[in-house]
Formats: sequence, structure tokens, C-alpha cells
Amino acid sequence: MSIATPPSQTSTPTSAGARTFDPLAHLDDVPYDTLAELRTGCPVARTPTGWYLTKFDEVLAATKDVETFVSSFRDAGVVVPEEEKLLSEIAEPRHGQVRRIVNATVAHHKSMRAEPFIRDLCHEYLDPILERGHGELVAEFITPVPINVISHLIGVPAEDWEQFHAWTDEVVNGSYSRTNRNERGEGLAGAHPEFTAYIDALIADRRAGDDARDDLVTRLITTEIEGHRLSDVEIRTQLAFLIMSGNETTRHLIGNLLWRVISDPELFATLKADRGLCERAVEESLRLDSPVHMLMRDCTAETDVFGVPMRSGEKIVFGVASANRDEDYFDHPDEFRLDRARPKDHVAFGGGPHICPGASLARLEGRVALEVFLDRVAAAELAPGSTRRKTPVFWANGPHRLDALLTPLK
Ligand code: HEM
Repeated sequence: MSIATPPSQTSTPTSAGARTFDPLAHLDDVPYDTLAELRTGCPVARTPTGWYLTKFDEVLAATKDVETFVSSFRDAGVVVPEEEKLLSEIAEPRHGQVRRIVNATVAHHKSMRAEPFIRDLCHEYLDPILERGHGELVAEFITPVPINVISHLIGVPAEDWEQFHAWTDEVVNGSYSRTNRNERGEGLAGAHPEFTAYIDALIADRRAGDDARDDLVTRLITTEIEGHRLSDVEIRTQLAFLIMSGNETTRHLIGNLLWRVISDPELFATLKADRGLCERAVEESLRLDSPVHMLMRDCTAETDVFGVPMRSGEKIVFGVASANRDEDYFDHPDEFRLDRARPKDHVAFGGGPHICPGASLARLEGRVALEVFLDRVAAAELAPGSTRRKTPVFWANGPHRLDALLTPLK
């Protein structure tokens, strides 16, 4: 780890863009040029939001230092009951206990069972677009995939999906969007009573039933690790968090991936000719167009671990997208390459104890969506006049719209 980098507050950013960098001000794009300048001239930058880490080694090290840097979705002073803390806010050692149960429920081999369902789903949503020959892929093809997959895995009956989707959208918008965060600290029940009641009913139904179902709710109820099981409130909280964390993120992975493939005919042809490369394409998309481009933490103690004096209470931002394009770590960092020696070596899923437990599922959804697209589409291009604009969600990075002209394979 390059802790020995010269203290960044003594170095001067080279451009006005870097000098005035505000991580929360970039709602339309990820400011890659400014981040590149900061990596060279001011790798640990002071910004109006807090300290900003731009280098791969520092970001990875910081994700592992869970004592000093704790997750912060809420405003300072907000106290949430322990059982209603989202997985990412729980301190060790309790985090480890809850995390092992969550890991068991979304483990790789369990997620893989969803592949046929995901494949059918992708065909179903692509059909009408191909019939028409054009469509807005984010709304019509991409967004429905993760929400339907998680509903299926949770065991929500199909007739409730529409309502369930609407509620999850409301919860996500209420909790994560910059302008409307759940700052009241009243937990999920206060934030969305109908959604909470629905999840509680699912839990009660699984507890009452004697059929051995294999859905996420049942797994969360029955998984016991070292004598520890989750309470109903913990199950509700972590279930809602799984939904919230998996939807928007996976949507952006698929959106970014398809944007690349549609706008790069050579990449499209290469992947069509060799489906074995799809997994690499997913990883390279995660690295180059990281769906979560930054993570925020609160500093819990004074530290100069990165060569700058960080004070307790200050915010620190892990520049995930910047780390994933760090020229000291990656060759040709700005290029989409399918021949990287260690394709999974990136921090798109974070690192340390909080590394994303849904990574296998997200990778699966990304790969299957890409494979189905390649199976069904003979030729693709962006609709005339398309320019890429990022989703306005401040921490997320994926195309807001993806208007495309598609020629179906006969
Ligand atoms: C491409 C899609 C995804 C990306 C880029 C992504 C990214 C991340 C990142 C960067 C973190 C670390 C957060 C931190 O350290 O503060 C994280 C944590 C988490 N993710 Fe994902 N994620 C994705 C999909 C999913 C899916 C599909 C699920 C659920 C099925 C999920 C559930 C979670 C949960 C519960 C955590 C918190 C883990 C903890 O704090 O221990 N994610 N994700």
C-alpha cells in the first residue's frame, strides 16, 4: 500500500477542475479527467464533501479498515435500533455474524440456480423490442431484470410483483437518492409501512408453513451460524437491504455493458464470435464503468494513515471508479480489454469485510443479459443523437437511457 505517498494537502491540483472538485456535484457523468489529474497531483484530495481517495491501493486498504472508516448513509446524530441497522452499518463483530447468514442465502451455488429463470426473463423483455426494431433498453429490457430476479428469489408470488416493484422503487428512492435520503433514522418501518408490512407477512407465512421452500426468506429464517439466527426484524431489515442494494447496481452493470457493446461494433463482433469472453466483458465493464462509483464513510478517529490529517467525524469518500482506472495498478486503464491477466482484480464490489455479498448474482445477471442480447441481435446501434448521460443518483453510474436500433437474428 502506498502510504508513503507525499501528503496530498501539500501538493497542488494541476487544473481548476481538480482544485474545485466536489464529488457530489457530478450527477450527469463521472468526472474521469478530473479524477486522473487528482491521482497524479493530489491523490488524497480535500473536497467540500470530505477526503477523497483516488488510488487503488488506498481505496482497497480503506475498505479493510472498518474500525476507522464506518459506513454513513444517514446524517450525523441519527440513532437506529441495532436490529434495524442495514448490513453495511453494523459494526464488528455483529456484522460478521449477520453477514455469514446473508452470505449463505445468496451464496454462489444458490444464485446459479436462477440462471434459467434469468435467461427466460431476458428473452421475454427483449421480444417486443426486437419486433419493433428499436427501444429504450434501460426501461424496457434492463431495469426489469434485477427486480424480477430478486422477487423470484425472495419468493414473492407473481401476482404481487407489480406492487412489490413499485414499493421497492419507493424505498430505494427514499433511502439513497441525494435529495430524499431517509434521514429520520426511523428504520424501514417508518420509511415505508406498506412495504414493511408486506415483508413481515412473507416472513410470517414462511414461519407458519411446513413446506420446505427454498427461497431467500426461508433461508434467512432457517440459516443458523454458530448458534445464531436472525430475528424477524433483522430478517426484514436485511431482506429489504438486499433488494435495495441489488437493483439499481445490477441495472447499471447491464446498462453500461450493453452501452459499450452497442457503441463498439468490434467488441460486439468479438463477443458474438466467442461467448466464452462474456464473463470477461462483465468484469471489464465493472472495472471501467463501475456501477457504484464512490462509497462514503465517516472517520471515527484521528488518523494520518493516508498521509493527511483526518479528524474524527470527517467524511471520507472511496473513489471506486477512480481506483479502477488507476494507471499505477492497471495497464491501459481507460481501455475496455478482454485480455487482462486478472479480470476480477478490481474494487467495483468494494473490498474488506463489507465486500458485496451479491457479486455472484450480479455477475450472473450481467452475463446472461449479454448472452441473450448476443443470441438474439444481428446488428445494433445507438439511436441517432444518443449521448450518454448518467443516472442522477449521486453514487451510481449507469446510463439514464439507452435508445437503440436493433436488427433481430432471423
Ligand atoms: C453490479 C452490481 C453490484 C454492484 C456494483 C455492487 C456493489 C457493492 C459495493 C461496492 C458494496 C460495498 C459497499 C460498502 O463497502 O460500503 C456492496 C455491498 C453490498 N451489496 Fe452489492 N453490488 C451489486 C449487486 C448486489 C446484489 C445483486 C445484491 C443482493 C442480492 C447486493 C447486496 C449487497 C449488500 C447486502 C451489501 C452490504 C454488504 C455488507 O455491508 O456487508 N449487491 N455492493
